[in-house]
Parts: sequence; C-alpha cells; structure tokens
Amino acid sequence: MRRYVIAGNWKMNMLPNEAIEFMNTLAPMVKDTKNEVIICAPFTDLFYTILSAQQTNIHVGAQNMHWEESGAYTGEVSPNMLKCINTEYVIIGHSERRQYFNETDETVNKKVKAALKHGLKPIVCVGETLEQREAGQTVDLITGQVEKGLAGLTAEDLDNVIIAYEPIWAIGTGKTATNEEANEAIKEIRNKVREEFNTDDITILYGGSCNDKNAKELFSMSDIDGGLVGGASLKAEQFEKIVNFN
Ligand code: PGA
Repeated sequence: MRRYVIAGNWKMNMLPNEAIEFMNTLAPMVKDTKNEVIICAPFTDLFYTILSAQQTNIHVGAQNMHWEESGAYTGEVSPNMLKCINTEYVIIGHSERRQYFNETDETVNKKVKAALKHGLKPIVCVGETLEQREAGQTVDLITGQVEKGLAGLTAEDLDNVIIAYEPIWAIGTGKTATNEEANEAIKEIRNKVREEFNTDDITILYGGSCNDKNAKELFSMSDIDGGLVGGASLKAEQFEKIVNFN
C-alpha cells in the first residue's frame, strides 16, 4: 500500500542499552504521527528494540538476512530466526551490502522471496554510483535492479514490499540528491513497477543524507513516499523531526 514511511537504518551502531533508551525517548515523540515509523536495528539490538516497541506505533526491522532457513552458514541469520522474535521488516540489498559483502541482484532476489515466504516485509534498496550517474546509466541501472531484485513476485506481494532509492554518492556523504533528481529517479522506478506488475500501489522511499532540514522538501515531491535515514536516525531528537515532517 502506498503510504508515508520513515525508516531509520542504524547500520552498525547502538548497543542494546542505547537502543532501549532511544526507543523510550522516541515513542512519545512520534505517537501521533500518521506516517509509518520503522527502526532497522543490528541483530544484537533487535530483540530489545522489539520489546521496547511493544505498545507503541514503531515498527522494527533487521538490516540483512540469509535466504536459507538453517544450515552451515557461519555468521548468518535466517528469515525464520527473525520472524520468531517478531521482526516485521528487513532491509535487503543495501548498497553497503552490495559493495562490501558481494551482494548481487540474484542474492537480493533470493532474499526478497525468502523474506516474503516467512512473512517478513523487505525494504529493497537500489541506487547508482557517481560514475554510473555521470555516464548516464542511472535509469537503466536502477530499473534493472528493480526488475531483477523483484523477479518472480506478484502484484499482491508488492503490498508487503518497500523500495528505497538510495544514490550511493549521497549515502553518508552529506551530499543529498536534489529534490528533482530524487523524484525523477523514483518516478522511473514507479514506471518500471507499473510495467512489470501493472500496479501503482507501491511505497518508494528516498535515502542518502536525509535529515531534519531537507526531509520536508524531499518528501513533499510527487513520487517520494518518505525516507530511509542513516546518520540522522541515531538521535531520537533529530529522527523525531524527520518523522514529524508533515
Ligand atoms: P545516510 O544513510 O542517511 O547516513 O546517508 C542512508 C542509508 O544508507 O540508508
């Protein structure tokens, strides 16, 4: 369903006590928002974060998972492990996973299918590098990532999928895409989803140096349904302002 979503991605930050404190601070600040609020926590914080989110309107997600249910995959966490502690969302194919941990569109697709099979909602990330943007490859690249990452899904599956457009050159750099650049890219993704699945009913977020100063303008653009927020999601007082942008 198309709606406003503000998702925090803590990346490899926050100890459990910090996670609990953050959640206890954030919850009263966002209790009246119409937007959906998600916090994606590291595995070691997940259980505490989920417990802290009980009786609040905050949803909780993981940042990665393996596609198999169990087996000899040292260091990995499976979809059913996430599901059994009531994890609701999982980020799949973040550019940092693609860049440092060899994730490909094929592994993204396996993970997306496994997440849906286990009742987890994937937040699927796509985005181009600066070189790809300068070479005029942005649209082909991101629509290709969408096509391959979501291959084999149905329009009904998309009810439980969020796409995040995150230009790699804007992540953690303080360099945000302009409102128009972000909106254009997301429009192309929407067109691709329409072409592949014959639906417009999909939530697509922008990510990359979102903060409390630029959120309102970005999220007011016609095709942008909210944000996937890294650095600015680490302080409840700052994240709250992004959640309450409207
Ligand atoms: P950033 O990260 O907001 O720190 O740029 C966004 C992301 O990687 O999801």
